[in-house]
This record gives sequence, C-alpha cells and structure tokens, in this order.
Amino acid sequence: MIKQPMIKIISTGKYIPPHIVTNQDLEKLVDTSDDWITTRTGIKRRRKAINELTSDMAYYAAIDAIEKANYDQTKIDLIIMATITGDQFTPSTANFIQAKLGLEHQVMSFDINAACTGFVYALEIASSMLQTGRFRSALIIGGEKLSKVIDYTDRNTCVLFGDGAGAMIIEPSQKEQDRAYFYNAAYPDKNNTLTVIDKIFMDGKKVYQFAVDIMEKSIHKILDVANLTMDDIHMIIPHQANERIIQSVSKSSGIPMNKFMLNISEYGNTSAASIPITIAEYLEKHNITNQKILLVGFGGGFTWGSAILQF
Ligand code: ACO
Repeated sequence: MIKQPMIKIISTGKYIPPHIVTNQDLEKLVDTSDDWITTRTGIKRRRKAINELTSDMAYYAAIDAIEKANYDQTKIDLIIMATITGDQFTPSTANFIQAKLGLEHQVMSFDINAACTGFVYALEIASSMLQTGRFRSALIIGGEKLSKVIDYTDRNTCVLFGDGAGAMIIEPSQKEQDRAYFYNAAYPDKNNTLTVIDKIFMDGKKVYQFAVDIMEKSIHKILDVANLTMDDIHMIIPHQANERIIQSVSKSSGIPMNKFMLNISEYGNTSAASIPITIAEYLEKHNITNQKILLVGFGGGFTWGSAILQF
C-alpha cells in the first residue's frame, strides 16, 4: 500500500483582482450573449489583472494566508507555484514570490505546470517533500494571469477564463488524523485538445466529455485510496471550469449539488488558481474543524488529480 503523507493545514489565502469583466462587456467584443454564457457555463463575470503580474497576485494571496494565521513567514522553506502563465520563462514565478516576501534564508522555490490540475499536483509534491523531514513549512500557490493568453476575438474561449491566485501554507504532522490522500495522473492528449502556444486553443466539446468522465472517476478513485465514502466528506472543492460539468457529475454520481462548492459565476475558470481560491473562500465563509474536504481537478495535458485533506 502507498504511504500517504500527514500534513497540517495552517492557513489559506486568495487574491482576486478588482477589475470585473461582465458578460455584457464581452458582448461588445465578440458575437455572444449573457444568456448563452450563463446557460452554457454558469459564468456571469470574471476578473482581469490590469496592473498585477502573476507573481503580484500570488504574493498577495500568500500575504493573505500569512496574515490570517499571524504566521511567522521566516518558517517557510519551500515555495511551489502552480501556473501556466508565469511572469517570464526564468526566474520562476516562485522565485519572484520569495523575493517579494523578502525570504533570504534557505528556501527551495520553483514552478510547476500541470494546467488546471496544477494546485493538486503542487500540494502532493509539497506534502511528499515535507514528509522527508527536510522541510518544515511549505507555501503552495496556484495563480494565473490568463488574460494575457486569451484571444479576445475567439468567442469559444474568451468568455470562459479569469485571473486570480490562491495560497495554502502546510507543515508536516505526526498525527494520523492529519493524513492526506492524493491521486494525481495524466495521459497524453494526442489531438491537442487544449493548448496554449501563443493563445488559448480549446476543443470545448472534447474537453467537456473528458472532464465529466474523469471527474467522477477521480472522486471514486480518491475515496478508494483513502478507504472512505462520500458520507465522510464534508465538501467537494472542484476545479471551476463549467457549472454544467459539475451538474453532470452530480447527476451521474448521485452526489448532491450542495456537496460541491461553486464560485464560477463570479470568477470564471482561473485554471491552477481555481481550487485554492475556492478553498480560501469556503473557509472564510465556514468555520470548520475536524472535517474532510475533497479536491478534484482536471486540465490540459490531459492532467487530472484528486485529494482528500483534513481541516
Ligand atoms: N457565445 C455564443 N455562441 C458561442 C460561444 C459564445 N461565447 N462559444 C461558442 N458558441 C457557439 C459555437 O460556435 C457553436 O455554434 P455553431 O453550432 O454555429 O457551430 C455553438 O455555440 C455550440 O457550441 P458547442 O461547442 O456545441 O457548445 P457547448 O454546449 O459544447 O458549450 C463550452 C461550449 C461551454 C465551451 C463547453 O464545451 C465546455 O464547457 N467545455 C469545457 C470547457 C472547459 O472546461 N475548459 C477548460 C477545462 S481545463 C482548463 O481549465 C484549462
């Protein structure tokens, strides 16, 4: 049996850029309508980073997490940033975050790219690294400035995506109740169904079919890995790609819609940022202790992944 890591979740944070782009704003750019976007996706508005870099948004999300827990940031010795829209090829966005935080002690910082599953991948990487005993505190961030790769002449994609960042701080734990469970995977998308070379390209129907299928499998897989049932799960935080994808999974799996936390109407699809933003928002609204939360993500690659965390 695979040994799963034990981690203590210290805090979560988020940053949402203030500039709002409504469906009505997009009606002025492409041949679309508020009604089409709302009924096909559940999205009403999304945010656009005007003055912020990806690293700025990530830094603000990190500061939110640090301040919420009144955390001594000099304890952080691992920073993993999940993004497909980093500031530049190198240095990594994680390096910029480290610099903005003013951390000059021994910190390992790097970026990973697993598209919209990036945060769940980063969380597994960080948890495994903490388990070695070599690190004492990890800052994991999912952040995207997708507006810089959106083609605002393509109505198939420009209505879907938004900008933002979410962060989590974790430490290693010795308590069995803090055991986390991960199931991350990928297989090659030979048809380039979802790519960003210069701008986002997506075959929406194929992504939709993949997402509905893999989300349900992924939820069942992680419950099997953890030897738990849905009754043990307080809430599912899914990647916010399309409300209809989640409704379809709810219908086919029999898991009620009120077990899925949704905020896609406000932020659209923020790729690697969507899961950590949604976790932070959920915890701001609900004071939970001793509860298990299930994360499930999917994205370009194709990547997919799920996790069960103890809060
Ligand atoms: N406004 C109006 N019409 C539109 C728009 C728009 N914004 N976009 C597409 N259409 C048109 C299409 O051109 C098509 O017209 P046609 O029939 O004349 O050719 C028509 O609407 C129907 O298009 P479909 O592709 O059949 O629409 P569908 O019901 O499949 O919905 C959507 C499209 C919302 C993109 C859906 O396929 C979807 O949600 N896919 C998954 C998207 C996703 O989750 N992507 C990201 C996941 S991974 C990640 O986050 C990186």
